[in-house]
Amino acid sequence: MSRSVESVSIAAVEKALLVAADVHDGRHLWSAADSLDELAQLAGTAGILVEGAIIQKVTQRNPVTYVGRGKLEEIRREFSLNPGLGTLIFDDELSPGQQRNIEKTLGEQIKVLDRTALILDIFAQHAHTREGQIQVELAQYEYLQPRLTGMWRHLVRQAGGRAGGAIGVGLRGPGETQLETDRRQIRNRISDLRRELEEVRASRHQHYRQRKRKGLNTIALVGYTNVGKSSLLNALSYPLENGSNGRSGSEPPRAHVADQLFATLDPTTRKVRLPAGTQVLFTDTVGFIKKLPHDLIAAFRATLEGIEEADMLLHVVDLTHPKVEAQIAAVRSILADLGVADKPTLQVWNKVDAAPGWIPPSCAPGALRVSALEGTGIGELLGAVEAVLRKALVPVELLIPYTEGALRSRIFSQGSVQRFRECEGGTRMTAFVPPALAEAAQSFRLCGEG
Ligand code: GTP
Repeated sequence: MSRSVESVSIAAVEKALLVAADVHDGRHLWSAADSLDELAQLAGTAGILVEGAIIQKVTQRNPVTYVGRGKLEEIRREFSLNPGLGTLIFDDELSPGQQRNIEKTLGEQIKVLDRTALILDIFAQHAHTREGQIQVELAQYEYLQPRLTGMWRHLVRQAGGRAGGAIGVGLRGPGETQLETDRRQIRNRISDLRRELEEVRASRHQHYRQRKRKGLNTIALVGYTNVGKSSLLNALSYPLENGSNGRSGSEPPRAHVADQLFATLDPTTRKVRLPAGTQVLFTDTVGFIKKLPHDLIAAFRATLEGIEEADMLLHVVDLTHPKVEAQIAAVRSILADLGVADKPTLQVWNKVDAAPGWIPPSCAPGALRVSALEGTGIGELLGAVEAVLRKALVPVELLIPYTEGALRSRIFSQGSVQRFRECEGGTRMTAFVPPALAEAAQSFRLCGEG
């Protein structure tokens, strides 16, 4: 799944027109123009040059051709007048039938992509761990499978074709080497990938169990793509100019920050010390985006398990973004899909340096406002995290044998010990500890407790 240097340079000259159906049903937080701005950013991230955009106002998307036939004709004429154009990108996921019909109308010289294919292409470029790569490859095959008829032939011809020809956006990943693979081979490949993913997942679970045994609380950074999650993870785990933030241990490499959509695909975890001394883990994960198909969420389950396993979430928001409210709504809806909407969550309004004094309507005056770039508000944020975690502490009464020295010191460092007394069988203590640590100390709990 690695991208060759050659495909990068080829993709850089791929030129595209964008298309959106503007559905007027009063239910949408995004206008078609806003949505196309985001699609253009996605295209730019994938290395495509956007030449223009077309919006058609409709009461509903055409189930056969997405936009009306007349509009498709107009698009075909536009392509014939501009031979540099090679690709047409739709702002929604096209059904396999829509894709076929559009390709039939436009002819084989025009490559048809949709939002999902574009997102998958970016994922393919940004997945660096084996787990990330398997997930993307699996998602790409599952996306391609029902679209094989026609598309494969189309892609083979396209590979030698016109503007942006050879292998371009939407074809990277499995498409690069598997153009002639038939459906059965693809099905086999899908089951192999699923098996491999299960293995990776099993070892990840093992990793989570070890973490749980250590009793460390984990906090997942979630949010729309490009809001500054990786920057915030760096700010939380590195000393900043205005003082120590409690970084612990040697300095790990910085999380990857880029002004690109989906710069981070593989989760990064950092150990951080909270103000009262407790160590916790912060984990950064893939950014969300609206219209993220359910299949794609399912495909990234392993990456998203970091969110499911977390004790609390930091929902990072870019307060400078013009569609900040719509982004918040998109993130909430994905969190609900993942079944984690009830986890303790703090909303963190980032990029306050870029818009000092600006308080978006839904940002309560007391909300956490930070600048990951300048390091402002980080101390307050760590304090707020500590307060939330403290609320979740579990009261325990324990007798820790002297042979369990490591557990004993974890209780002292991660919990709040109310009383303790050394006695014959070990240390007898009453404490409030994180749920994970209570679980780790389960076999040393005294009867009659609670
Ligand atoms: P994805 O991986 O795409 O989900 O992005 P992310 O949410 O991890 O964002 P990332 O940290 O990569 O930052 C995205 C862009 O926002 C970069 O250009 C950052 O420099 C910029 N950025 C992040 N935090 C701040 C901030 O506090 N202030 C300003 N002005 N820019 C910021």
